[in-house]
Amino acid sequence: MTDPEKSMPKPEQVDRAAQIREELPEVAEIRDPALQDLVVAAWCLALAQSSFRSVREIPPAGNPGIMVLKRGDQTDHIRGVTRLALKLADDFAEHYPELEIDRDIVAAGGLCHDIGKAWEFDPERRRRWEASSRRTGRPSIRHPAYGAHICLTVGLPEEVAHIAAAHSGEGDLLVRSLENTIVHHADHTYWYVLLAGDMILPDTVPPKSR
Ligand SMILES: [Fe+2]
Repeated sequence: MTDPEKSMPKPEQVDRAAQIREELPEVAEIRDPALQDLVVAAWCLALAQSSFRSVREIPPAGNPGIMVLKRGDQTDHIRGVTRLALKLADDFAEHYPELEIDRDIVAAGGLCHDIGKAWEFDPERRRRWEASSRRTGRPSIRHPAYGAHICLTVGLPEEVAHIAAAHSGEGDLLVRSLENTIVHHADHTYWYVLLAGDMILPDTVPPKSR
């Protein structure tokens, strides 16, 4: 008799790296193949340590339940911010070459800036935090800090970890790098253009942004 479980693909048989490259094709914008591989490895690790199997399973929101897009998924945000950041970088590089923008760091930073959402948006963790917030905090760690942890764990350069750690409000506590400043403003532009275009679910918009 054939054992039906034996014919089922085991999780480790899924080519997660190929899946990430298909979900985030802007990885190909990174010229350094070693940096490409590290970005893919970072996303593989972030997913492996969550209950998500795909970047597409992460909801299209800025924070859990806040600024939720009317359609799409988290890949639309990650990809959109990366494309916007690269367009900004390319225009400034053309007209102000003395800025010496590191285009690979902009691309890798755009792709990894929200990598910690695999942790912060994880429904299983969110249920636990909800039930035990006095013990764990809620969330225990926001996506920028967890994203920096993932980046450094796989060996991404600190310039990319810095973008994960400080693209957000956390970056107001330090001096953002040039490349992080580009990603930070691309991220803001992404949300506020879509908000102005009525693409965000109204009851998920914070009062100060209405
Ligand atoms: Fe973002």
